[in-house]
Amino acid sequence: MGELSRVCLSVHTPRYCTYEAAFAGKLAHPDFRAVRDGLIEQGRELATAQLDVIVINSCHLVTTFPTVVDGTPRHRGVLTAQEVPELIHGVEYDFPGDYDLAAAMIDRGAAAGLQCVLANDIHYPLDYGTVMPIVCYLDRTQRVPVVPISVCLVADLEESFAWGQHIARSVAAAGRRAAFVASGSVSHKLVRGPETWPAPVEQELDRRFAQMLADGEYAKLWAWLPEYVEAAEPEMGGRHLAMMLGAILETGRSFAATVYAYGPSSGSGNYVISLAAR
Ligand SMILES: [Fe+2]
Repeated sequence: MGELSRVCLSVHTPRYCTYEAAFAGKLAHPDFRAVRDGLIEQGRELATAQLDVIVINSCHLVTTFPTVVDGTPRHRGVLTAQEVPELIHGVEYDFPGDYDLAAAMIDRGAAAGLQCVLANDIHYPLDYGTVMPIVCYLDRTQRVPVVPISVCLVADLEESFAWGQHIARSVAAAGRRAAFVASGSVSHKLVRGPETWPAPVEQELDRRFAQMLADGEYAKLWAWLPEYVEAAEPEMGGRHLAMMLGAILETGRSFAATVYAYGPSSGSGNYVISLAAR
């Protein structure tokens, strides 16, 4: 029987997800160490989770009108990040997809009246928020199938939450043992200066968010999310967080939380948190 066995809040900023940061120990600033080490631990945890698939919602896989689910059977390409070509360039990736699961997600979304598109195209470009966490940390062997799903600009928090529900239902019905990864920052009031932390008020909001998640107060957290989004301005309007909460709540399960790290990147707050189904 399938289940959403892991839920991860993860980090993709280039300060953490470059070869130097991940492998060579050349962090640009010591404040980056906790998150880098947390990502390594999160990857170790997933390596033991016997996953059939990872569904990942990256804040940099952005669509405007439809939500796109990438069902390409093999994700293969060379990534140079549009935003940071000096940091992320020529990164080769080659990992499997899961067409059947992606198609099932689209079927459920479409049946619920959500505008959505299934991609099946080796040339569909993947973003660094999808590729870098996977290849640097979460599955360095690149053996676990991956289904990327976009953040959609015209989708509100409710629609993003509904996609999380469709993901949880789809993996259960398809018999997949799955992880859902939300790849994005919490508070996201960006400034120049990579090592800059969020202001104290945003750090406090982020810590409250993480505490509620770790305490299993998922419904309460979902109810608070609009207020949190208004105040902390998380990445992509918090759509990745809404999708994560939709997936969690749909399972009806409780999860054991490990809060690995919290750290800065250019004024944003970044959590590494793993939830394991009890
Ligand atoms: Fe980002």
